[in-house]
Amino acid sequence: MVNLKGGSSKTTSAAFVAHAAAERGLSVLLVDADPQGSALRWGELAGWELPAVALASRDLHRRLPGIVGDRYELVVIDTPPMEDHRGIVVAAMRAAGVIVVTLAPTMIELDRLPPVWAAVNEVTAGG
Ligand SMILES: Nc1ncnc2c1ncn2[C@@H]1O[C@H](COP(=O)(O)OP(=O)(O)O)[C@@H](O)[C@H]1O
Ligand SMILES: [Mg+2]
Repeated sequence: MVNLKGGSSKTTSAAFVAHAAAERGLSVLLVDADPQGSALRWGELAGWELPAVALASRDLHRRLPGIVGDRYELVVIDTPPMEDHRGIVVAAMRAAGVIVVTLAPTMIELDRLPPVWAAVNEVTAGG
């Protein structure tokens, strides 16, 4: 889950996607790549059974395979706002097979997408 700003539903979407997949029988790991740790905190408060780990690192793409091993069928990564932690978000996108850009359907949010597309292009071009 990726976007430039906070408050664009990254953490909420990550939590719900992870739980929906787990309910359907997939083995799911939620990775909290936001240094604020809001996904992990939510899990503590709500008593999630879903496994979740903190990995707010610019090396995430190198470290994640060792953590995941062959134990999980789906890994959902919650990221910090790209404008604050671009290195972590780029690392998370390098590790990802699917990048979800969450946003409210407003003109203001649409207007803020170009830097996100630029980062997606950088990553998918292998840069
Ligand atoms: N689909 C949604 N519908 C209504 N409110 C939402 C939805 N997704 C997120 N929110 C609310 O928007 C706020 C920001 O969501 P959050 O997931 O924390 O964003 P982010 O992780 O991008 O900062 C929270 O108060 C959350 O409850
Ligand atoms: Mg968040």
